[in-house]
Amino acid sequence: MPMLSSVDRFVKALARFPRLGIAHLPTPLEPMKRLSAHLNGPRLWAKREDCTGLGMGGNKLRKLDYVLHDAITSGADTLVSGGVVQSNSQRQVAAAAAKLGLGCHLAVYHGRLSPPSPEYETTGNALLNRLFGATLHDVPWNGDRNGAIRELADKLRAQGRKPYVVPYGVSSPLGAVGYASTAAEIATQAAAQGFAPHSIVHCTGSGATQAGLVVGARACLPKTRIVGIDIDAEPDRVRADVLAFGKGAADLLDQPFAPADVDVVAGHAGPAYGVPHAATTQAIKLGASLEGLVLDPVYSAKGLAGLIALVKAGRWSKDQDVVFVHTGGAPALFAYRHLFD
Ligand SMILES: Cc1ncc(COP(=O)(O)O)c(C=O)c1O
Repeated sequence: MPMLSSVDRFVKALARFPRLGIAHLPTPLEPMKRLSAHLNGPRLWAKREDCTGLGMGGNKLRKLDYVLHDAITSGADTLVSGGVVQSNSQRQVAAAAAKLGLGCHLAVYHGRLSPPSPEYETTGNALLNRLFGATLHDVPWNGDRNGAIRELADKLRAQGRKPYVVPYGVSSPLGAVGYASTAAEIATQAAAQGFAPHSIVHCTGSGATQAGLVVGARACLPKTRIVGIDIDAEPDRVRADVLAFGKGAADLLDQPFAPADVDVVAGHAGPAYGVPHAATTQAIKLGASLEGLVLDPVYSAKGLAGLIALVKAGRWSKDQDVVFVHTGGAPALFAYRHLFD
C-alpha cells in the first residue's frame, strides 16, 4: 500500500466532517506578479477565497459548507445569524439559506460603527440580504456578538420553528475545521507550482479563519507561518478567539495545536473596525490597478495593507513566497464609494 503524505493524512482526517458542496472548491492560487514587482519584495500569491461562488463568495462559505451540513442533518428549517449592516458573513448565510430552501433570520447590529455613507444601510451586502430573502431584525450593538442571535433563535423556537444558530462570523470549532481545508489546498497547489510558502497572510476578525489555517498548516505546511492581520482593532480579543477555536478544531480533528503558532499582528486596523484609513484605500487601489482584485475597506484591504507594511519593513526576502488569502468582501466596497470620489 502506498504511503500517505502528511497532506493526504490531513485530508483524510477532514473527510470525517462532511461538507455540502455549496462552495466552489478548491479556490485558485494565483501569482501576483505586478504587485510583487511594485513592492520589490517577496514573490506574492493570492489564494482566491473571494471565488467560493455562491452569493458573491467569500471565506465564510468554506466554513458554511461544513457547518450547514450539521444544520441540515439536525433537521433545521431556519438559519439564524447576525452581523453588522455590511456583514459579509450574514450575506453568505442568507445566500446559503436561499440555495438550501431554508428560512433565514438575521440580527443586524447597529452602532458598532457610524454609517460611513448615506447608502451604507441600503447597498452592497444589505441589498443582497434582502434579495436573498432574509428577514432582518435591527438590534443595537452592545459588544456581545452572539447574544442577539441566540435570543432570536429562542423566539423562533417558541414559535415552533427549528432554528440553527450560525455564530457571528461562522466562527466556531466546526467552522475552523472547515477552514483548515484551505491549508491543505494551498499545500497541494503551491507544490504543483514549485514552491512552499514562507508565510500565509490574511485578515483576522472573529477568529475561525486563522484558527483553521493554523491547525491545517501544522499538518500540511509545518514550516509555513500563518500571519493574521487584526482588522478589529482588538488584537487581544482576536488572539483569544483564535486560540479557543484552534484548540477546539484541533481536538475535533485529533491534531496537535500549539498556541505559539498563533501570530496576530496589531497596528493595521486603522482607527477602528469598519473605519478605513489611508493605507486601506491605497491597498484597494493597488490591488485593483495592478492585479484586477476587488478588495473591501473593512477586511481584505486592511489585510493587504498589513501585508504591504510587513513587506516594506523587510519581513521577507525576495526569494521567499508569501500567500495572501483574499477573503472576499467586495459587496461592501459599494457602501464606501465616497472614498474614491
Ligand atoms: C471579507 C472578510 N474577510 C475576513 C474576515 C475575517 O474572518 P474571521 O472572522 O474568520 O476572522 C471576514 C469576517 O467577517 C470577512 O467578511
